[in-house]
Amino acid sequence: MDSSFDLTRARRETRYCEEMIHFNNAGAALMPAPVADALHAYLQKEERYGGYETADAEQAALARFYAAAAELLNCTPDEIAFAESATRAWDMAFYSFRFKPGDKILTSIPEYGSNIIAYLQQVRRTGAELVYIPNDEYGQIDVRALENQIDARVKLIAISHIPTGGGLVNPAAAVGRAANSAGIPFLLDACQSMGQLPLDVAEIGCDLLSGTGRKYLRGPRGTGVLYVRRSFIRQLEPPFLDQRSATLIAPDAFEIRSDARRFENWEQYMAGKAALGVAIDYAVSYGIAAIQARVYGLADSLRARLNDMTGVTVADEGREKCGIVTFTTAQLPADVIKRQLKAHGINVSVSDGSGTFVSFQERGITALVRASVHYYNTEEEIDRFIEILASILDATL
Ligand SMILES: Cc1ncc(COP(=O)(O)O)c(C=O)c1O
Repeated sequence: MDSSFDLTRARRETRYCEEMIHFNNAGAALMPAPVADALHAYLQKEERYGGYETADAEQAALARFYAAAAELLNCTPDEIAFAESATRAWDMAFYSFRFKPGDKILTSIPEYGSNIIAYLQQVRRTGAELVYIPNDEYGQIDVRALENQIDARVKLIAISHIPTGGGLVNPAAAVGRAANSAGIPFLLDACQSMGQLPLDVAEIGCDLLSGTGRKYLRGPRGTGVLYVRRSFIRQLEPPFLDQRSATLIAPDAFEIRSDARRFENWEQYMAGKAALGVAIDYAVSYGIAAIQARVYGLADSLRARLNDMTGVTVADEGREKCGIVTFTTAQLPADVIKRQLKAHGINVSVSDGSGTFVSFQERGITALVRASVHYYNTEEEIDRFIEILASILDATL
């Protein structure tokens, strides 16, 4: 593993990391001290000076969110919108499409459950068709099968870059190339990849991308990001409008704004937005490629250790695997493992299929333990995790 990563700084600035082993970073990572401090300071200003007055005074910090997100994604600040979650960011993009009967939406098998619900709602409303592209032999989206499905009826390609319930990283740039060469809009759910690996919207070739603050970016809960390519902004009319996204220009007329903020609400979690800007700058200060190398290295090491354990089956698919490590054990169900690890001060989560319903159904899986690592985790924590898990499994003998 790359020894140049400044782990001492990462641990020093993660105030409570010695109090537990936090392997639930794909749920919500621990906020670093500068991010938590920015959040608390903003809220204190609201308490002291008033919410509107604080927003006026904190214009620079609020504007930094757009600039920081644009630098992170290699786009411009006017192509960025703030949202309260990745799902709402994604919804604002997806529900802006006007499908007709016979139109096709192409997605992948391990697509996020909330996205599938939205597809199916639009299918029911409009008569469009949802097509699941099969996986290839690695479990990632089969790009050749995707290309074979492309015809004049396809109106949108939308996939999750990293599904919620496994280590798989879908080949987003290959999907982008297929979408771009056919002139089909490409919406990428980058909820689990934002902050975990470099995301360059030009390189990926996505027209729309959504992400969240609280996971690999280590920002506050209740924050999300939407990117919309400039040439798409005016083509997409958001499903909801208010006085931020549009302006009344006559008693019977309004105008929708021309930047990506047309997808935003007027009322926003300002403290979270300012702190998310700090979180993005904080992630960039380590280098996103360096974060990726460290996270992937820790996860590889955790997978190798789990593979050596009797009764443990690692479930991660994909040619490229990320910081999300999922497994089952022959001895105990996933929720019992989670509870027992918690009793030993270790946080993991359970993927029970709602997030990756179609994939789990196809693979005959009902629940997986999900241990997701971040750069501030350590090899010593992995040792301890394996030791505790072994003792939990041994106790069943
Ligand atoms: C792939 C993926 N997409 C979307 C989401 C939803 O994110 P949020 O809870 O911020 O709406 C998640 C959350 O786990 C996810 O893993």
